[in-house]
Amino acid sequence: MTGSGLLQEDSRYLLNVYKRMSLVVDKAEGCYLVDGDGRRYLDMVGGIAVNGLGYADPEIRAAINNQLERYIHLSNFFVSPAVVDLARMLVEGTFAGKVFFTNSGTEAVEAALKLARKHGHAKSPGKTDVVALFDSFHGRTYGAMSLTGKARYRDPFSPTVPGIRHVPINAVQDLRGAVTDTTCAIFLEVIQGESGVRPLNDDFVAEVTRLANAHDALIVADEIQTGLGRTGRLFAHEHFDLVPDLMTVGKSLGGGLPLGALLVADRLEDVLSPGEHGSTFGGNPVACAAGAAVLRRVSNPAFLAGVRRSEELLRDGLSDLQQKYPEIIGEVRGRGLMLGIEVGLFARKLQQLALEQGLLLNVTNETVIRLLPPLTISNAELEHFLQLFTQACAAVSGGANNV
Ligand SMILES: Cc1ncc(COP(=O)(O)O)c(C=O)c1O
Repeated sequence: MTGSGLLQEDSRYLLNVYKRMSLVVDKAEGCYLVDGDGRRYLDMVGGIAVNGLGYADPEIRAAINNQLERYIHLSNFFVSPAVVDLARMLVEGTFAGKVFFTNSGTEAVEAALKLARKHGHAKSPGKTDVVALFDSFHGRTYGAMSLTGKARYRDPFSPTVPGIRHVPINAVQDLRGAVTDTTCAIFLEVIQGESGVRPLNDDFVAEVTRLANAHDALIVADEIQTGLGRTGRLFAHEHFDLVPDLMTVGKSLGGGLPLGALLVADRLEDVLSPGEHGSTFGGNPVACAAGAAVLRRVSNPAFLAGVRRSEELLRDGLSDLQQKYPEIIGEVRGRGLMLGIEVGLFARKLQQLALEQGLLLNVTNETVIRLLPPLTISNAELEHFLQLFTQACAAVSGGANNV
């Protein structure tokens, strides 16, 4: 079937909830996607932060193949070495004492919400309110969607889960007004992804900790996008003076297979009892085997230092570009290889021009180009990105009036 035939069949048979790109991918390797004609595209989207180690990573493939030979699935009545290994690695590398595995990010958020509410109930009846942040994104299931701080994701599906209040990011006074003794948890992304790569500031994060302590509320860090080396630390909260009580992880955890996790601090490990929560597929052994291969690599300090060096190279190049095209390139935000570039109304045009030149870009929140390349991207590939992006800016600048 031709590429255009496949796109037609796709729209004929699949529910129309995704904005598909016209590019039909035949294969993928490293940081490149390849179409049916053999044309290569440098991928600065990285499966929206899933392909942390790029495509076709040999260690991930070997881990998957090894586990496939043994078994693909057991029910959660049975223990599995692959699952226990990954849980041990997560516990040893973080604040957490225990792990609950899910199939997706949104399910990890649901588990966090349930645990936080049950914990609140036990403290005092009615201690079930939750504070979350405007513009946040936590997922598509009802709890996670209700936590999400964007009305357009929630309103069509109202009524949402009650007891959730949103405050603007970095607004300390609003936060003080929202967190009370009836608050059981504060949910946050330390760097918001979907809303255009917006970091929390140190004062706000410090106030989260102070208020959580004062009102006996849990801090839930959603690290589904920021986690696993993306920001140049294993988890992004390590950039701040913050230790969460719960943390949600997903995206790159399964090396491309569906896997999420809720990490739980020691003192909370008995909040949920057998039968109170669970998942048929959560903690699939093949996905966990891939996860161990991912975690082993991304938790290596040398790997994380490499991500931070890549950030420097990108930021230097982008700041040159800012000077050259101030009418196009605005603020550059974020950490590590999670950077957002404000480009205003030029975003879609830049994305289209880049695609024509063999460069894949993600646009989020309409005006922001969000870079989430594989963390394994080489300096030469970063230079290649800067070169192609410069060409796109030059073309837009030339035809600025046509945007
Ligand atoms: C911060 C954050 N939380 C939660 C989710 C939801 O994850 P999933 O799509 O795996 O359910 C996402 C996905 O983009 C995310 O970026």
